[in-house]
Amino acid sequence: MLRGTSYGVNRVLVDANRLVDLRVPKIRMHAAYEIPQFTVTSDTADTVEADLLAVPVIQDKREASAFFDKATGNELGSAFERGEFSGKPYELWPTHFSEEWRTRRGLMVGVGNAAELNVERIRRMAACVGLAARQQRRARVSFQLPAEWTDAAWLEALAEGVTVANFDNGQYKSKNDSRFFLSAVSIAGASGSHVADALERGRRIGEAINAARVLINEPGNSLTPRELVDRARALTAVPDVTSEVLDEKQMEQLGMGLLLGVARGSAEPPRVLVLRYEPVGAPPSPVLGLVGKGITFDTGGLSLKPADGMERMKDDMAGAATVVAAFRAAALERVPLRMIAVVPCTENMPGGRATKPGDILRGASGLTVEVNNTDAEGRLILGDGLWYAHKIGATHLVDVATLTGACVVALGKVTTGLFGTDEWVQVIRDAANSPGRPAGAITAAMFLKEFVPGLPWAHLDIAGTAWADESRAWTAKGATGVMIRTLVELARTAGSGWPGTPS
Ligand code: BES
Ligand code: MN
Ligand code: ZN
Repeated sequence: MLRGTSYGVNRVLVDANRLVDLRVPKIRMHAAYEIPQFTVTSDTADTVEADLLAVPVIQDKREASAFFDKATGNELGSAFERGEFSGKPYELWPTHFSEEWRTRRGLMVGVGNAAELNVERIRRMAACVGLAARQQRRARVSFQLPAEWTDAAWLEALAEGVTVANFDNGQYKSKNDSRFFLSAVSIAGASGSHVADALERGRRIGEAINAARVLINEPGNSLTPRELVDRARALTAVPDVTSEVLDEKQMEQLGMGLLLGVARGSAEPPRVLVLRYEPVGAPPSPVLGLVGKGITFDTGGLSLKPADGMERMKDDMAGAATVVAAFRAAALERVPLRMIAVVPCTENMPGGRATKPGDILRGASGLTVEVNNTDAEGRLILGDGLWYAHKIGATHLVDVATLTGACVVALGKVTTGLFGTDEWVQVIRDAANSPGRPAGAITAAMFLKEFVPGLPWAHLDIAGTAWADESRAWTAKGATGVMIRTLVELARTAGSGWPGTPS
């Protein structure tokens, strides 16, 4: 229905974009997440005011919990003795503290043995506590951490874990009674600006991950290429970042025949989002170039995918969301290096004008491609995207894409595929905590390599890891936000140890 102006028939037909706009429903019912307020307080476990006091318990150092044993009327000690609670990773033991304590509700949480402790453990522990607190409808959570947990990376992981747990994917549910978010998180018995800074970094990464998860979970009818670009621009409207959007005319001028070839079958027009982060005083090089696959829905095109499971293909823009979210977090953190992001966005649809198997396309780099399977669309749009990132000045490239089913077959759903040029891949591997190994998905990667001759380039295939089919103790099902932390971590290294670029 067209409101307001009376449109002639011709006008309506010509104004096709408007017609499509009107089809896009705005029916989201709830917010997906809230960002809790983090504070550091010198109040101790007995004096801190919260709705829940969480206490990590190290399995082989349980005796350190004697203080809490007393406050529970020796219930904790007997739970240890009876084997009711032993401090294994993510084991939860809810309890009450004595009347003198200001926070009466307690949650002991296992983290395993001291020697196995690492940032991933801490992150998951914090997420488990966050989810449990939400289930119990306790809005203010305080953590009493073991005295030796002073490592900034651990505090960062804690803040990230709680923030990521404060996420509910039931945004569209008309009946969703279980929604409850944490409003405040405090670290008891702590002080110092390094603690607050670490919490802030973790909060920021957690927030970026949640923002990306919202985009990835969003269905294809609401998240069209234009909508993705609009929302990505809003997310990156932060200091020192400028953005630009290329429309079809500009793509044509640049010769982006691969991207345009994929977009041909759609009623929705394609877009390319270009972001530039130029902090004052950053050296002219290196320039980190991030490229993300932004297929807002992948039907396979004329090489149509089977109906079973096709709904999952709304997440085929996870690479785009990852790049945008990492860009936001890194810019807000004010990393001292230049960055560029190029995000090609389109649907892959089997419309009447769609690219046909056997068609030949020519990309912006000048390379021609025979399209034998229109479902291999990701490498086409990335080919133009990578080339453009190079053209506008990127010296080191990383692309992120839900690129191949073969990667899922080879590496499963917990490992991201990592491909690329020798030394650069090592740099990315050092920033990632779960690197992959080359497998069958390598042919797609070799195709991409054709578009970045001579530059350090790496490709992250997140086809298996972008989406969790089942929820876990520490995370909801649906979009995972994988690799955002890795990209921010990479930006933090700001050129040190990066391979040089041939000029
Ligand atoms: N988006 C898919 C890859 C994918 C598959 C992601 C399953 C997540 C789960 C990609 O565009 C695709 O369709 N790839 C094809 C390539 C093939 C036609 C060479 C594939 O993997 O089947
Ligand atoms: Mn495909
Ligand atoms: Zn795809």
